[in-house]
Amino acid sequence: MSSPSKNLPGNGKEVTFLDQTLRPSQWEEYIGQDNVKENLKILLVAAKERGHQPEHILFYGPPGLGKTTLAHLIAHETRSQIKSTSGPAIEKVGDLASILTNLSPGDILFIDEIHRLNKTIEEVLYPAMESNVLDIIIGKGPSARTIQLELPIFTLIAATTRMSLLSSPLRSRFSGGVFRLEFYRDDEIKQIIKRSAKILDAMVTDDALKEIAKRSRRTPRTANFLLKRCRDFAQVHKKNLSAETVVDALTLLDIDELGLNVIDRKILGVIIDHFAGGPVGLKTIAASLSEDEGTIEEVNEPYLIQLGLLDRTSRGRMATNKAYRHLDKELPHDRQEKLL
Ligand code: ADE
Repeated sequence: MSSPSKNLPGNGKEVTFLDQTLRPSQWEEYIGQDNVKENLKILLVAAKERGHQPEHILFYGPPGLGKTTLAHLIAHETRSQIKSTSGPAIEKVGDLASILTNLSPGDILFIDEIHRLNKTIEEVLYPAMESNVLDIIIGKGPSARTIQLELPIFTLIAATTRMSLLSSPLRSRFSGGVFRLEFYRDDEIKQIIKRSAKILDAMVTDDALKEIAKRSRRTPRTANFLLKRCRDFAQVHKKNLSAETVVDALTLLDIDELGLNVIDRKILGVIIDHFAGGPVGLKTIAASLSEDEGTIEEVNEPYLIQLGLLDRTSRGRMATNKAYRHLDKELPHDRQEKLL
């Protein structure tokens, strides 16, 4: 059976001290997402000029594109304190009440994976976001009463990889804006790797940089993860960080030249080999691979779709002709004429 994909190379979900040092904390250091950046800057400057607290902001998009980084950068740029938590960490209404009442005026509250907040807790967040109050129900039944606590003025920054799971009342309360983060361009990924290599004091040749960028899934978190693994490989084998070293290191990690890891290739492989290229439902794919449905949908599929290897149709997932070619599989006869 395969290991959970969050531990797989290429997903690079680990957050270590090293990752913190690679995170840009100023606008000038943050590469890419130009439109999001410009809009955020206007929002923050306008709020500052009016002497107001910035309004609530929601970031969404595939993992590793910089949602958390942006929240920390905003805190740094506005010289605010940031308190971080996540949807699954807030288990009871009391947990959220305690977080909110412990904020100081002007703080930023960052809630990652907000789609995993339970509905009862979500409803406590509405008045907090809209009117900076906390409605607490004391007691049960006919004798129950509500008391209202005034909260410090704060900005909520939330992040999600699953926009479709957010209720529309919650979405509409992000009055500062809802921003979608996109996969990065190749030149942006190269710039990010170059910057990280400099911080890590790693000498990377131009060709090596290109090789890492090619396999980085257009995602900074993956780019930084691969850079660190290549640096380890070069150090242990006493080699320079050349293109050849990168190819050797990443081949050992089972990451191919498109940046696909074992799970990505298994997903495409199972659709092609067991379901004649699709369409096949996500549940069936997940069960065939003993993988988590949510991980496949949030982590693997966005990149496969972005590369044009996978199609999400109303009848299920389909491997494209490009996927057949990438995996060196023979195209079925009924596809040979069609461009999919
Ligand atoms: N590290 C992670 N994301 C980054 C970005 N967008 N720009 C620069 N460095 C990064």
